[in-house]
Amino acid sequence: MRMVDIIAAKRDGRALTTAEIDWVVKGYAAGEIPDYQMAALAMAIVLRGMDDRETADLTMAMARSGDMLDLHDIAPLTVDKHSTGGVGDKTTLVLAPLVAAVGLPVTKMSGRGLGFSGGTIDKLESIPGFRTNLSAEEFRRAVRELGLVVAAQSGDLAPADKKLYALRDVTATVESIPLIAASVMSKKLAAGADCIVLDVKYGQGAFMRTLDDARRLAQTMVAIGRHAGRKVAAVLSSMQQPLGFAVGNALEVREAVAALRGTGPDDLVELCLVLGSELVQMAGVRSDADAARTMLVEALRSGAAWAKFRAMVVNQGGDPAVLDEPERLPTAPVQVELPAPRAGFVAAIDGQALGLAVNALGGGRSRKEDTIDHAVGLVLWAKVGTRVAAGDPLLTIHAARQSDVEAVADQLRTAYTIHDAPPPPLPLVEAIIR
Ligand code: URA
Repeated sequence: MRMVDIIAAKRDGRALTTAEIDWVVKGYAAGEIPDYQMAALAMAIVLRGMDDRETADLTMAMARSGDMLDLHDIAPLTVDKHSTGGVGDKTTLVLAPLVAAVGLPVTKMSGRGLGFSGGTIDKLESIPGFRTNLSAEEFRRAVRELGLVVAAQSGDLAPADKKLYALRDVTATVESIPLIAASVMSKKLAAGADCIVLDVKYGQGAFMRTLDDARRLAQTMVAIGRHAGRKVAAVLSSMQQPLGFAVGNALEVREAVAALRGTGPDDLVELCLVLGSELVQMAGVRSDADAARTMLVEALRSGAAWAKFRAMVVNQGGDPAVLDEPERLPTAPVQVELPAPRAGFVAAIDGQALGLAVNALGGGRSRKEDTIDHAVGLVLWAKVGTRVAAGDPLLTIHAARQSDVEAVADQLRTAYTIHDAPPPPLPLVEAIIR
C-alpha cells in the first residue's frame, strides 16, 4: 500500500477499507508514515468525513495500538464515564463515588485541563497529598479493595491517538466528528470498562457548540461502543451556562463535597443522578430509570456516596481532614465581588469567557507544562434566570493578587447578558442516546 494513494482516495470521497485503516494507524504509530502525510489524510477526513464502519475501524486500530486493559480477573464488570468537557464540570467527583456506593466498580482515567475547560485530575490534586499517578498495581488494588479509582491516564493506552491528537491540534483538524469520536472511544475501549456513560455537552461552554453536532457525536460514539461489544449510553447535557456555581479547582472540590454531603447545587446533583442511572441500568442492577434513581438518591441521602469519596481520597494518599473542613482546601488571598451593571434578569452566561478568565487567574493552562494555582477561580451568585438589582454581586473572583482581578473583570462583566424580561428556562438534559 502507498500512503499517497490512501490520501487521494479519501480526498476523492472514497471510503477506506479496514485493511487500509489498519495499515495507516500501524505505520503512523511506528513512525513509518511521516506527520505531513498523516496531516494530509486528517484534513481529507475533516472535509470528506468517514462512514460508521470506517470510524469504528479507526477507533479499534487506535485502541489496539497500545495496552488493552482487562480487569475481569478483579471484577466481573466495571463502569466508566467520559465527559466531552465543560466549564465547572466537576461531575466525576460526585458520580464516581455515587455509583461505587451502590456496588458498581468504577475505573476512571481522567485528564488534566487544557484550553478553557478544567480537568478532573487538576481538581483532585487540590486535595493535599492526593496521588493521581498510580502504578498499574495500585490501580488494580484500588479497584479490588475499594471498587473505586480515579487516576491520571497511565501505561500505554491508545498511543496512536496520542500522536494523532497532537498532530490534529496544530493542523486545524480537531473539528471532525469521526476523528473526535474515534479519539475518545479508542481511549475508553482500551481502558477496559464494560459499561460506559458519555456526558456529551453542548453550548457556549463546551467543545460542541450546537445540539445537532453534540447529537451526531453522541450517536457515533454509542455506535462504536456497540460495535466493540460494550454497553454505552450518551447523555446530551447543556453547557449553556457553567454547571453548579464554582469554576476553579479547589472551589469545585468544595462544591462536589457539598453535593456528596447533601447540600450541593441542584443541576450538578441532577446530572449525576441521570448519568448514574444509565450506568446502574446498563450494569443490570436495576431495570428501569426510576428504580435506578431511587437507589442512587438513597446512596446520597445515607452518606454512603460521601463515605466512598472519603475512602478514595484516603486510599490515594489525600488528607481527609480537608474534606471534613473544606475551608482548609487551598484558598485564594484576594476575593472580590463583581457587581451587576444594571437591574434585570440574567439571560445568558458565556461559559467559555468564564473558563478563560479562570485560566488567566492561573487556574488553568495554556501550555501542557504550565503549573496551576488550585485556589483561584470564580463562584457565581447569579445564574441564568436570576433576577438582580444594579450592584448585586454576579460572582466572586478568587485571585492570587488584586492586579489579576483587574485583568479579568471586564471580560467577566461582558460574559453576563442581562435583559429586562426573564429568559425561558434552560434545559439541563436534552436527550439520552442508547
Ligand atoms: N478529546 C479527545 O480525546 N479527542 C478529541 O479528538 C477531542 C477531544
